[in-house]
Amino acid sequence: ASTSVKLNTGAEMPTVGLGTWKSAPGAVEHAVEYALKNGYKHIDTAAAYKNESEVGQGIAASGVPRGSIFLTTKLDNPDQKEAAQALESSLKNLGTDYLDLWLMHWPAPMTKDTPALADKTHDWLDTWKDMEKLFKAHPDKLKAIGVSNFSVEFLERLLAVATVVPAVNQIEMHPSCPAEDVLEFCRSKGIVVTAYSPLGSDNSPLLTNEIVKKLADKYSVQPANILISLQANKPGVTVLPKSVTNSRILSNANIVDLTEEEIAELQAIDKMQHFRACHPSWTGWGSLGFPDCKDL
Ligand code: A2P
Repeated sequence: ASTSVKLNTGAEMPTVGLGTWKSAPGAVEHAVEYALKNGYKHIDTAAAYKNESEVGQGIAASGVPRGSIFLTTKLDNPDQKEAAQALESSLKNLGTDYLDLWLMHWPAPMTKDTPALADKTHDWLDTWKDMEKLFKAHPDKLKAIGVSNFSVEFLERLLAVATVVPAVNQIEMHPSCPAEDVLEFCRSKGIVVTAYSPLGSDNSPLLTNEIVKKLADKYSVQPANILISLQANKPGVTVLPKSVTNSRILSNANIVDLTEEEIAELQAIDKMQHFRACHPSWTGWGSLGFPDCKDL
């Protein structure tokens, strides 16, 4: 597997990044600092994770120069009407002048109510137009823009009007959620796919799956390394293992080269054991024609 993947902007995105979804303030500062001090060059967060300030503290504490780090954050659903303000807030929270990548978190504008509701007065395509404007007007602040949780159908709707092709589509991807159609489509458009929840998220049954364990034994690594390597071995894919545990942060960066047959065997796990880690429990997703509803 290559150590980085080229984006359609020409920039290199390190293949393995530290995921921070569910990494709580109090733990995430140290996780980010530890990862950066031990060779990670790519950190992923989101306004919705409510940990941008702490991620920023971890970056500062690491002493690693900002220019050596690929930093991604995401525009939150309730901020889709106020993209410019949300960008400034993320930059401030992270304590940085620029983002390497800024993603629309979901094609799902929401209100600021608690609980949030679908914002039927706003079209996420207009959010993308605002993100494009910001990207063109502020190359010093935004090195690349992209999307997250986009199905093929949503990507097609986006590309029909986009003047900037998203650099990345970040999606849930692991053997029980192979997303092969999305990956194939993104490859055909030069869009890099970033895999989140590569282990299947918390308490994942994939870590004790027999096929995964067999390959872990063969390569003398942990099951997690097989699952992370599966994604890292796919051309045009980057991967975000999440951990707040030192030993795991360290070991998760070890990628092994899997054979074509082994990759196919891992991808076939979905036929026996299908699940998604990111079940949007909010019923309004369906009313938005949310891309993954049909899958739940
Ligand atoms: P923790 O953060 O407490 O170390 P995913 O990346 O698929 O979202 O999975 C994240 C989950 O997997 C977290 O619960 C994380 O726990 C756990 N995890 C991370 N790395 C490993 C590993 N090497 N072995 C087992 N579990 C891991």
